[in-house]
Amino acid sequence: MTGAVSPSAGALLEVRDLARVFRVRRTGSLFAKPAALHAVDGVSFSLAPGRTLGLVGESGCGKTTTARVVLGLLSATAGEVRFEGAAVPPPGTSAWRAARRRMQMVFQDPLGALDRRIPVGAQVMEPLAIHGMADKQGRRERALALLDAVGLAQSFFTRYPHELSGGQRQRIVLARALILEPSLLVCDEPISSLDVSIQAQVVNLLIDLQQRFQLAYLFISHDLKVVRQISHEVAVMYLGRIVEHGEAELLLREPAHPYTRALISAIPTAAAARRRPILILNGDPPNPVDRPAGCAFHPRCAAAVARCRVDLPALKPLPDGRLVACHVAHGETMADRVAA
Ligand SMILES: Nc1ncnc2c1ncn2[C@@H]1O[C@H](COP(=O)(O)OP(=O)(O)O)[C@@H](O)[C@H]1O
Ligand SMILES: [Mg+2]
Repeated sequence: MTGAVSPSAGALLEVRDLARVFRVRRTGSLFAKPAALHAVDGVSFSLAPGRTLGLVGESGCGKTTTARVVLGLLSATAGEVRFEGAAVPPPGTSAWRAARRRMQMVFQDPLGALDRRIPVGAQVMEPLAIHGMADKQGRRERALALLDAVGLAQSFFTRYPHELSGGQRQRIVLARALILEPSLLVCDEPISSLDVSIQAQVVNLLIDLQQRFQLAYLFISHDLKVVRQISHEVAVMYLGRIVEHGEAELLLREPAHPYTRALISAIPTAAAARRRPILILNGDPPNPVDRPAGCAFHPRCAAAVARCRVDLPALKPLPDGRLVACHVAHGETMADRVAA
């Protein structure tokens, strides 16, 4: 099995050198000039139809910002997002709304995504009405079919969000996202707010729906066990950049980046963690406003050498095909190579 990342040819979603900077005030200095927070800093990946890319990393590493820029909910500071072969049009335009029909999202909090005053069946049908698709009877039939697809009985049609469990609400959110027949679903921590006992059911449903509707998922989670289950590929983010990206099996079994290794050894039951000494992630990630020079992970990295403090490692392939941004993983730790 190779670790190769899916080639751009035939990609459904292509993200190239994406960056997003926020202007923020430095804490404690009310009168200081705003600082630049590089939330996403040169992120590239592509996603083929029907495939899942898991995006992982600690809180604050830029996962949600990446998702929002991909969906056009936030503008990019630099870089490009291409979807179904064309650049995503500027937000708010009719071309953007057309593209957005084909890229839907599921976020963490299903209750927040639903209108408490409206029966859920009407909310599932609503996107069809907004886009002027199908007549009233057609919309209703389609909504009932989608309730069935997400494992809910027809009797749910007339119920209100507060009458449903968290898992049932997330199923409603999924039905509503799928009614426009998207090719891409961006899922940002879609099961994090659910009871652990329900999480597996929703993950299994997502896997089922992917096969049934040929969906591609950009699946964001900090739970590597879930990511392992659902992803074909995994990209690991650290302080706004992808530090490792490869075939999920390989990357999770034999992580090459010290940061990926540390994340995996934090999973109590992971086979990979049992085989190697537990690596502890020391401290919190640094503030992205004051990104460390060189490799941003070096202050927390047990493997770091002198070069890591000064020279930003490029994300490039190992012989097995997976991409890694680490001087040590590439065996390029000689200080005199800095100038090369
Ligand atoms: N609207 C915003 N204004 C300023 N900073 C933001 C904004 N949104 C996110 N950030 C900052 O960008 C970084 C990445 O955030 P986010 O994408 O939410 O990370 P994640 O989803 O991985 O937890 C964090 O440092 C966060 O504080
Ligand atoms: Mg987030």
